[in-house]
Amino acid sequence: MFALTGIGHLVTNDETVGQGKLGVLHDAALVADNAGNVSWVGKQSELASHFDGKPTDIGGRALIPGFVDSHTHLVFAGDRALEFESRMQGKPYAAGGIKTTMAATRAATDEVLAANVARLAGEALASGTTTLEVKSGYGLSVRDEARSLVAAKTATTETTFLGAHVVPPDTNADDYVALVQGEMLDACKGNAKWIDVFCDRGAFDVDQARAILQAGATVGLGTRIHANQLQQGGGVQLGVELGVASCDHCTHLSQQDIDALSGASATTVATLLPTAELCTRSPFPNARKLIDAGVTVALASDCNPGSSYTSSMPLVVSLAVINMGMTCDEALWSATAGGAQALRRSDVGNLRVGSRADMVVLDAQSHIHLAYRPGVQQVRAVIRGGKTVVGNL
Ligand code: NIG
Ligand code: FE
Repeated sequence: MFALTGIGHLVTNDETVGQGKLGVLHDAALVADNAGNVSWVGKQSELASHFDGKPTDIGGRALIPGFVDSHTHLVFAGDRALEFESRMQGKPYAAGGIKTTMAATRAATDEVLAANVARLAGEALASGTTTLEVKSGYGLSVRDEARSLVAAKTATTETTFLGAHVVPPDTNADDYVALVQGEMLDACKGNAKWIDVFCDRGAFDVDQARAILQAGATVGLGTRIHANQLQQGGGVQLGVELGVASCDHCTHLSQQDIDALSGASATTVATLLPTAELCTRSPFPNARKLIDAGVTVALASDCNPGSSYTSSMPLVVSLAVINMGMTCDEALWSATAGGAQALRRSDVGNLRVGSRADMVVLDAQSHIHLAYRPGVQQVRAVIRGGKTVVGNL
């Protein structure tokens, strides 16, 4: 059991205990129990009746829920620095680069894959991410997708089978779609919680995506979709039709797509990935328009070696505010509670009583500084499940 006091600005994401949607309290305190869950939050002046030990004073700093990064591709080997360099000289981004990483991933040992996942998950944790979704998708064979999910599971329970990332070279698309739904799904389902399909130009079409997602749902996997990243298409509307937990990217949307997402806001989240737009020099999605239409928006990093080689949720928050029209409050909510909703979790992404004691002490007075100071390391400490795992209190 422990208590934090001297919390100048506490974001709980619980409207019933504090101001606004972020449920902000000032001069606050928080108590966690021995199971690693939040057991009390409130005014510091009321702490004494809830805790009789010695609290840790965080000196007036801000405390926020740990980030929930609901979209990453951490299982891979090699990198694509040269592709990035040539993109910055004008070459456009295309889904085909995935095949370069596929070759490196297939050639890597299980140990190398697990070590890469651990390195990137550690990097994410250091920038405040306490819950992480990790996809397969660079193996693209039964053996390599199955071992990618084993590697993903070393870092998280939120694992996603993305055999349908692209059709591997020298393979017939129909045969590959059949393989993904059949033998590959069988080999992967035991280590996957979710199934995902990249439904876009250069990847899979709507009918292929529907068949693969339905096959995954039939064996008990939750569904999510990469949709409308590179161009408009039917991916978002397919996602809504199937009731997926999240349609991810949502960069190129028609009014019908927005209407569909807004009608499904309790079921299907739109997850925006602004570092993918940053690193591919693409137009940012219009988050303001989505939120104003009533769409539930999450923010995630899309950490992968091609389109977004960053695990920094503070950077994502900053871009969302500066380039996508989100308020500082909306961006923090979407990077915490929104990410949790995209993973259909209510025990993370907030600091309500009963939720996991996952939180970040910022070297700042409020969460506004996350967007206000882009690229600056402001994470003083990270607590996960009630334990300090990064920094010192
Ligand atoms: O989310 N969109 C598909 N997959 C990744 C890119 C993967 C890659 O380029 O390696 C993404 O951006
Ligand atoms: Fe992605």
